[in-house]
Amino acid sequence: MSKMAAVASSFIKSRGSLCLPRFTSTWSKSARGVLQEGLDAISKAGTWKSERVISTPQAASIRVVGGGAGGGELLNFCANNYLGLSSHPDVIEAGRIALRDYGAGLSSVRFICGTQTIHKELEQKIAKFHNRDDAILYAACFDANAGIFEALLGENDAVFSDQLNHASIIDGLRLCKARKYRYKNRDVTQLEEQLSEVGDTARLKMIVTDGVFSMDGVVAPLKELCDLGDKYGALVFVDECHATGFMGKGGRGTEEHLSCEGRVDIINSTLGKALGGAAGGYTVGPREVIDMLRQKSRPYLFSNTLPPPVVACASKVFDLLMDGSELVEKLQWNTSYFRGKMTSAGFNLKGDDCHPIVPVMLNDARLATEFADRMLQKGIYVIGFSYPVVPVGEARIRVQLSAVHNKEDIDKCVDAFVSVAKEKGVL
Ligand SMILES: Cc1ncc(COP(=O)(O)O)c(C=O)c1O
Repeated sequence: MSKMAAVASSFIKSRGSLCLPRFTSTWSKSARGVLQEGLDAISKAGTWKSERVISTPQAASIRVVGGGAGGGELLNFCANNYLGLSSHPDVIEAGRIALRDYGAGLSSVRFICGTQTIHKELEQKIAKFHNRDDAILYAACFDANAGIFEALLGENDAVFSDQLNHASIIDGLRLCKARKYRYKNRDVTQLEEQLSEVGDTARLKMIVTDGVFSMDGVVAPLKELCDLGDKYGALVFVDECHATGFMGKGGRGTEEHLSCEGRVDIINSTLGKALGGAAGGYTVGPREVIDMLRQKSRPYLFSNTLPPPVVACASKVFDLLMDGSELVEKLQWNTSYFRGKMTSAGFNLKGDDCHPIVPVMLNDARLATEFADRMLQKGIYVIGFSYPVVPVGEARIRVQLSAVHNKEDIDKCVDAFVSVAKEKGVL
């Protein structure tokens, strides 16, 4: 009997099917030891991630469970709720109606019996919003990224990926058999050398980049990437998770922000950030790409359909955006206001001025953690990031603005930054 089977059998014999296992076998004891060693190493390295528990909807102002440091009412400056639509009343109402009319879920993958009218409608809206042929929904953008490369590229192809691309792109590329090239962050010179080295030896070539790099709040050089794509016959793929809905005047993302609409071949993005924040991701692009993904992309084929309330919430968000939302302008105003005040106060900020991710550079890892803890005590929820999430010596607090912050919220945040910085000798 295998060790797993032995554990299962001892569990059933000793506890009955409704009880929890006691984990008394040799296997479970040694497994526990191995895992605990790994957990201790994470703690020792100072990279343990703990979760604060929120008892309200996602919003500019939230309540965090627990007394002491960090509990109570907080102004939230660390969500990806860029447009503040996570708890917009029209979005919630759309979800409620879909729950009533279409049920809680489909208990099926899309191609068996999991496609409803609302899934097709949302895919069409996404395609229209991005002005592309078609779109395909996933349970998350992580899945969209995990499924796309293996489905489209094989061993005769080559892929060129920015070194700071999101973890889900890195995982997706691991699954694909294409030749892989990694270029330094936004380094178009190195990318061109790689493209030229590959020349005509690959059947398909694909340049892969995040539209906005989320740790730094910097925008990819999309125009230059598209120029290289044209010159070397390479497709351009962009992950727009930190851009869709709010970058560019109409919220169409990085390509609109940089005035190169329509030049990117394939866009992946999330419904879990600016677009209502529930869950879900998508690929949008040429019909042949989407058709191929529906046939071959494993996270699409072998995972449950997006639940109707989630679909309806996202669908309402696209309606709001296509009607021309003033939230995009408000977010841009908030971003400039915050950046202006922080720069005048003397802080060293990283990132592009246009983007609502604002890394406040502190460089020292311990200082970043202590600074963020002190901000929490002052009612401002921000998070410190240090190695290995960012390079050694580049620890920071990453602030994220939202359209639902008002001027007073931002003033309070800046005041807290100044006061803690004085306490810590940073200013
Ligand atoms: C750049 C980027 N791509 C992909 C993802 C995954 O998105 P989702 O949360 O929809 O899985 C994220 C989320 O953190 C992201 O920041």
